[in-house]
Amino acid sequence: MTSFKHITVNPVAGALGAEVSDFHLGDVNEDAFQEVRVAFLEHQVLFFRDQEITRDQQKAFGSRFGTLQIHPFLQPLKNEGHPEFILLYSNAQSPYLAENWHSDVTFVQEPPLGSVLRCVEAPEFGGDTMWASTYAAYDALSDKMQRMLSDLVAVHDTVRSFSRPSYDTAGTGRQPPPVMSAEHPVVRTHPETGRKGLFVNTTFTSHIKDMKPAESTALLSFLYHHMTTPDFSCRFRWRPNSVAMWDNRCTQHRVVADNKTANRRMERITINGDRPY
Ligand SMILES: [Fe+2]
Repeated sequence: MTSFKHITVNPVAGALGAEVSDFHLGDVNEDAFQEVRVAFLEHQVLFFRDQEITRDQQKAFGSRFGTLQIHPFLQPLKNEGHPEFILLYSNAQSPYLAENWHSDVTFVQEPPLGSVLRCVEAPEFGGDTMWASTYAAYDALSDKMQRMLSDLVAVHDTVRSFSRPSYDTAGTGRQPPPVMSAEHPVVRTHPETGRKGLFVNTTFTSHIKDMKPAESTALLSFLYHHMTTPDFSCRFRWRPNSVAMWDNRCTQHRVVADNKTANRRMERITINGDRPY
């Protein structure tokens, strides 16, 4: 494990995840930031506590990794000058979003590099988020399975999420947005670390190209089950002003939807990524 001069990094699980202390997201010190970059690539998801930051500071921090994405469907703070923000708000009336395993926005040609999620209001208990390392899932497969997957391509789309008839249109009179889709390799190579990881998820992956439907369904079902083996995962308990930053290229995540009536409010920005290969 890399040792650092400016920041303190403590892993929270074996496969991925580390808590970073002695760093404030508003800190403009370049040396400290470069250490955060190194820790990010090494641990795949970083956690920061007690980050009392403004939306502008959250955007400025994310912008150090790349340009910020404006989500094709979700821009709740557009009128407040923050089209880059997504809100995840759940309470007794509105259910959790993101309660299935996924990587973010994989239905576009260039899915995000990662996201920075800040907790504004946390439930007293529950509503944790889990992440799983797709590197660890790939590494644990046999050589034969790795070879079999190596030239497969999967189709990702919004059919079961944003474009489904019931999605977020209740009472608004709006029609669901048209389907967006993209093709990505099932095994992707991380552009910065060179490590390989599985790149399919239950929310957006539709099927594996050039396979019979029954073959695709069976193979994806095996991969989804395998990828969520507890040994490849970590779990984070939120407090107000906790921040998680994950690498969307080598992890997937989901909320643990176990306290559905409690208020939980999160604000996310998303960093643009490149085309998977
Ligand atoms: Fe997500």
